[in-house]
Amino acid sequence: MLDTVIRGSLTILPTGAVPADVGIGAGRIQAIGAPGELEASNVVDAAQHVLLPGAIDPHVHLNTRFGEWVTRDDFYTGTVPAAFGGTTTIIDFAIPLPGETARSAFERCQKEARDGAVVDYALHGCITREAFSESLAELPELRARGMRSVKVFSAYRSTIGLSFEQIEQVLRRAADMDLLVLVHAETDEMIEAGIAKEVAAGRLGPRGHAASRSAAAEQDAIRKVAGLAAKAGAKVLFVHVSSAEGAEAVRQARLDGQSVQAETCVQYLFLDDEVYDRADGQLWICSPPIRSRSHQQALWSALDDGTFDLISTDHNCFDSRQKALHRDDFRRVPNGIPGVELRMPVLFGAIQTGRLTWESLARLTAEAPARSFRLWPRKGCIAVGSDADLVLVDPTAPTDLSSSHMATDYSPFTLLPGNGHVVQTWLRGSRLVDRDRFVGERGVGEWVHGERSEVP
Ligand code: URP
Ligand code: ZN
Ligand code: ZN
Repeated sequence: MLDTVIRGSLTILPTGAVPADVGIGAGRIQAIGAPGELEASNVVDAAQHVLLPGAIDPHVHLNTRFGEWVTRDDFYTGTVPAAFGGTTTIIDFAIPLPGETARSAFERCQKEARDGAVVDYALHGCITREAFSESLAELPELRARGMRSVKVFSAYRSTIGLSFEQIEQVLRRAADMDLLVLVHAETDEMIEAGIAKEVAAGRLGPRGHAASRSAAAEQDAIRKVAGLAAKAGAKVLFVHVSSAEGAEAVRQARLDGQSVQAETCVQYLFLDDEVYDRADGQLWICSPPIRSRSHQQALWSALDDGTFDLISTDHNCFDSRQKALHRDDFRRVPNGIPGVELRMPVLFGAIQTGRLTWESLARLTAEAPARSFRLWPRKGCIAVGSDADLVLVDPTAPTDLSSSHMATDYSPFTLLPGNGHVVQTWLRGSRLVDRDRFVGERGVGEWVHGERSEVP
């Protein structure tokens, strides 16, 4: 009944790390035994290796248009790198294009994903400024089609962002439908005032971008939306929290008894704002911006005390030409950085330095997103009955963080040490990556409906 046994790895189970055999059959984990206990025709000798649950990246933007810019990758060229980096499920954002509603954007993205994705996938619906009322009215139908989360932006009011009054309406509808609301939390008026100040002072380079988007703007939006969510009885998840003040606002909301979750991203934990002093500082322009070392320390503390639930990427795959075209005016540089492949290898470095353990890594990149987005325990854990989404890591082998398979020509993480290497990635019992070779097929990724699936 077993097709394959992965033998003798340090296996990261929900209950802790143990040397074990993992038996796979029919795409699922069928058995977990002591090293040497399980037999199958195909045995992978995994001694000296670590076996993690396939990582979930719930914050990626593939083939996405932001104003005049379109990201360089699609559901194929974006998910092959995900597999190289040990990510076996992604959740993308169906952001309506001009003329679209939440539903038509969702249908477009679902089709693109079906045709291209090599890892499993889901979509967050998005309610944006245009067609706001129509999109809001479409939420029940989208929920019936398996959507479990909806995203709103309090920033970018001139394009896709919503007012706090509109966000309150979304929260009320979402609470009625048991939808999780993801929030890009930066108060737009404060950001616009920050931009105006930098422009007036002639600071139009990457430093101006960082200075224009204050931690106070993040804190203000988190406080406001957390308050609105409490009144509405809605569940919220603040995405890409980047600052000490933002983390503190999340912590306070939790202390007040509110149902609040929070994500930070790998760039905010490992990079600091000195990147904006480089000649090519535009490569790191993202919103919120990468902040100072003291913020970085506060984010690690927020991970340690459980304020943050997840570490994602906010993957936006622009290339250096796109980033450089308007480098002298930060307002015109496309926002966002690529990371879907490098998140896990960067995080392996934190195990070497003792900031994370294999168990906490599995919790932050697999278990927590699976629980938040209702994929647990089908996804996000190594357990009998779960999908055999598995990542075999050689903890002693290096990963070159200056290059990747992503559809771009630069790496934001180029200066970091890469300790630990993804050797094999398995999706539902089939190998996607085997020793630096992609061995999967276009379109093998499946829509994960977001239904709670019980381990049989
Ligand atoms: O800079 C970023 N993060 N751009 C992508 C859109 C978003 O805000 O998530
Ligand atoms: Zn955002
Ligand atoms: Zn994003």
